[in-house]
Amino acid sequence: MVIYAETGRLLLRPLEKRELPRLVALMDDWDVVRWLVVVPFPYTKRDAEEFYATTERANAEGTPQFYAIALKSNNHLIGGVGLHPPRGNGYAEGDVEIGYWLGKDYWGHGFMSEAVHAVAALGFVRPTTRALVATTSPNNKASQNVLRKLGMREGEVRPLNYAVLRGGTQTIPWRLTREEQDKKPVVSGAD
Ligand SMILES: CC(C)(COP(=O)(O)OP(=O)(O)OC[C@H]1O[C@@H](n2cnc3c(N)ncnc32)[C@H](O)[C@@H]1OP(=O)(O)O)[C@@H](O)C(=O)NCCC(=O)NCCS
Repeated sequence: MVIYAETGRLLLRPLEKRELPRLVALMDDWDVVRWLVVVPFPYTKRDAEEFYATTERANAEGTPQFYAIALKSNNHLIGGVGLHPPRGNGYAEGDVEIGYWLGKDYWGHGFMSEAVHAVAALGFVRPTTRALVATTSPNNKASQNVLRKLGMREGEVRPLNYAVLRGGTQTIPWRLTREEQDKKPVVSGAD
């Protein structure tokens, strides 16, 4: 099995075809999807198959865009982290967008904080990555906390400048440059 990274409780690995029914079960939940820019809702088997095909293409090219998050204890899929070219305007060359979600049953256990640290490190292994960027809704406090704990800097709230659904009209941009990542203290024992 390909493993991109391992943390205390989690595996970051490719999405597997056998997991598509589980992906649908986790993702077809408005409480999850309402915060995500491009994920369809309702989320169907066909959406999962199309998504899987895009992950396979990126994996084959050697630059994964989706890291499935699985529990180390049983290898069950619980969510995912994306690293992809930024959507929207105003980004610089070398900016890589990070986005993520967890099935609702897995919220509030520190899993995403654990996962994004590992995926951010993978993002900066790519020599072309100059900065990680992200956007959150001003109402998504959990996600803001995940990014803050990752060491990302919060920009000014601004109007959404790309076609976004979900009724949001404002977004907060976040950024973490390679220099800022390099200056982070190395925590002993961290994965
Ligand atoms: C955002 C999301 C990924 C957070 O995952 P998570 O594993 O529950 O987050 P963590 O447990 O690592 O929490 C990170 C921090 O936020 C805090 N937090 C968690 N839920 C919170 C909430 N609802 N309100 C405020 N703070 C919250 C935690 O206490 C933690 O801080 P701490 O370590 O200082 O205690 C998850 O809620 C989710 O999948 N939401 C739907 C999809 C989504 O919003 N994606 C991001 C789009 S920008």
